[in-house]
Amino acid sequence: MLDKNAVLAKELEKRKLPDLLTAQNGEKVTTVERWESEMRPYWKNIILEHCYGKTPVYVQPKIQTKINEIDFAGKAVWETVSFTFAVNGKEHTVPTQLIYPVGAKNVPFFVYLNFRPDIPDRYLPVEEIIDNGFGIFSVCYNDVTTDNGDFTNGLAGLFEDETRAPNATGKIRYWSYMASRMMDYLQTREEADKSAIGVAGHSRLGKTALLTGALDERFAFVCTNDSGCSGAALTRGRCEGGEPVEVICRVFPYWFCPTYHTYVGREDEMPFDHHALVALVAPRAVYIGGAIEDVWADNDNQFLAGVAASEIWEMYGKVGMVSPDRLPVEGDTWTDGNVGFHLRKGKHYHSRTDWLIYMDAVKKLLKK
Ligand code: GCU
Repeated sequence: MLDKNAVLAKELEKRKLPDLLTAQNGEKVTTVERWESEMRPYWKNIILEHCYGKTPVYVQPKIQTKINEIDFAGKAVWETVSFTFAVNGKEHTVPTQLIYPVGAKNVPFFVYLNFRPDIPDRYLPVEEIIDNGFGIFSVCYNDVTTDNGDFTNGLAGLFEDETRAPNATGKIRYWSYMASRMMDYLQTREEADKSAIGVAGHSRLGKTALLTGALDERFAFVCTNDSGCSGAALTRGRCEGGEPVEVICRVFPYWFCPTYHTYVGREDEMPFDHHALVALVAPRAVYIGGAIEDVWADNDNQFLAGVAASEIWEMYGKVGMVSPDRLPVEGDTWTDGNVGFHLRKGKHYHSRTDWLIYMDAVKKLLKK
């Protein structure tokens, strides 16, 4: 619990964030039961309706698997798993890559949303992740539906009607829908420890990973790397050089539902802020990663979202963010609590350094 006079409490005070625990009738919610039955559904709904758009209907895909030749020096098995979705006579197939240590049974897994289909990839150091005892299940987001304003292709093409209603599904929600279908599939695989499957992604896909973990309670941990504006970062109190909602809505309007655009210029009137998105992961674990030169992602506000959300973990009798009472500086790594944060050296990138920090944090978590 933050002391009122603490530096971080004052930072949060300045931002005048919507209160996570005030019910619609004005009452203060004080129990996990009411959080789960009332506030959690409330925040999920607000965040979808006002930011990312509605959830496409559930469709059970047909699955096909194929084993690939490359075996990472005999240490890993690599399968391509194809998901075919059929809706109203239209079909779309999404290829995904499943890699796990040879002989794996019940190992922790990362569902990884990636920019490219490559295995390995510059953002996905496969061999190192395998050597750390994890499995990987990755997808290239453009194979789900393209990263542009075309809603006629991929999964968007299956679900869209012609008019984009105010709460129409944005591309981030489509990508995260796919991550949940990958989670469905992992439930059928003995290689995966069903209680230790997390979701990770970088930047726009860090936003997607956070949304996925917020909505889908089967994910035990979330690693949201350099996700910034409309991801982990608080919108209220944006730091100088941080990305504004106006820019993200102008440059990437299709990531969100149309309603989100109506908050440009009146961000303080949004009925939520991104601490609510982080809070939805409680009581599971969330690790927020930043890089010192990535000013655009607004590191202070990524960290503060984690601090502000921590009260929900405390309600569960768990610890949220464990950090000193100050804003982060280069080299800080705070992963003792169930809400973690690190600020590494360098630029916007999903680096090996980030992966090592996340994997250490998850190993600590799984030992608890
Ligand atoms: C842009 C965008 C960010 C986003 C990033 C990315 O910089 O403004 O919000 O996170 O692209 O996805 O690489």
